[in-house]
Amino acid sequence: MLAVLYVGSVAGSTSISTSTSTSTASDTARSVPVFKAKPYVTVETSMFGPLIEGAAVDKNGNFYAVGFNDTKAATGMAFPMQKLFFQDRAKTKSWFNAIRFNIDPAGVQEAYLGDVEGHRVVRVRDPENKGRFVHSETFCVSPDMLQPNDLAIAHSTQRLFLSGMRFTPNSVVGDGDLWTCDASGKARKLGSFHRTNGIELSPDEKTLYLSEASNRGGKVVSNAILAFDVDVHRGEISRGRVFVDFESLDGSGTDDIDGMRADAHGNLYVARWGAGKIAKLSPAGALVAYIHLSSIDQVTNLELAGPQGKDLFAVGACKSNPKKGCIDRYAVAVEGRAFSKLHG
Ligand SMILES: *[C@@H]1O[C@H](CO)[C@@H](O)[C@H](O)[C@H]1NC(C)=O
Repeated sequence: MLAVLYVGSVAGSTSISTSTSTSTASDTARSVPVFKAKPYVTVETSMFGPLIEGAAVDKNGNFYAVGFNDTKAATGMAFPMQKLFFQDRAKTKSWFNAIRFNIDPAGVQEAYLGDVEGHRVVRVRDPENKGRFVHSETFCVSPDMLQPNDLAIAHSTQRLFLSGMRFTPNSVVGDGDLWTCDASGKARKLGSFHRTNGIELSPDEKTLYLSEASNRGGKVVSNAILAFDVDVHRGEISRGRVFVDFESLDGSGTDDIDGMRADAHGNLYVARWGAGKIAKLSPAGALVAYIHLSSIDQVTNLELAGPQGKDLFAVGACKSNPKKGCIDRYAVAVEGRAFSKLHG
């Protein structure tokens, strides 16, 4: 069985750690409970296009995604209703792939939008607390960023962590990258990896999770989640290790991973894009459950939203018409990390 070799180079040092499998895929997978999400936004009702991604929740539990109105530069609210959230109408248009909300120290709600083409994060703010996000600005930028693809925010320090990726037939270190932007918007690179994509922090903001996948000869050969000890004040990572190797976990090493989100207890919900389902992992990295989807084949991202932050919304192109974006919903017992931080 394939052992994941973590080959990333972290700024200032090179870390290598390996993980080996101890159980067979079928043994592991058989004992895992399977649940099923229900359709929420369907092909008939959707106002989102096929590039639906960047799942996010605000302090009221409203749910958002990118790719509104089949427009790369438009993001939309999807729960409780579908409507335009923010669209970049500048001449050089953005391609938004990520959204995260935050409350700044003055109590103003803001959203950070990752722009893969502009290699930047745009910030929009709601200064009057009326749900009108009017003021937009480039918050952080670097032409050396690969994308960013997705982003995570440490709510205690306003610090962002950004992942980027490039899909090449034979992955090399540098096809993925990890950046941080401090509260003033200063961008700094933290490391280079094979393809990186999903990114999340633990509820105590002491662990940073980052997905890493590899290709050989044009085929996907491994998928893992790396974990780092993180200092969200200084923006430093250390003790890089393989948190989950999907080949060892459930034999799904060749199924690509996409976005991931934590709940308030530190469980991780992971979009298994290549397998068309969500894997729920315990804080120790054990496989707890699968959530199968109704209207989506390739799930790109998810977030826990809704009035109590306990509705898992998963997004992806619609199974029955891949030109539309669909959203499934599944009720969970524990509120999301982001929802609990925005409330607290
Ligand atoms: C969707 O896009 C079209 C054309 O780009 C535009 O005319 C229309 O107003 C947009 N709809 C919404 C709801 O933003």
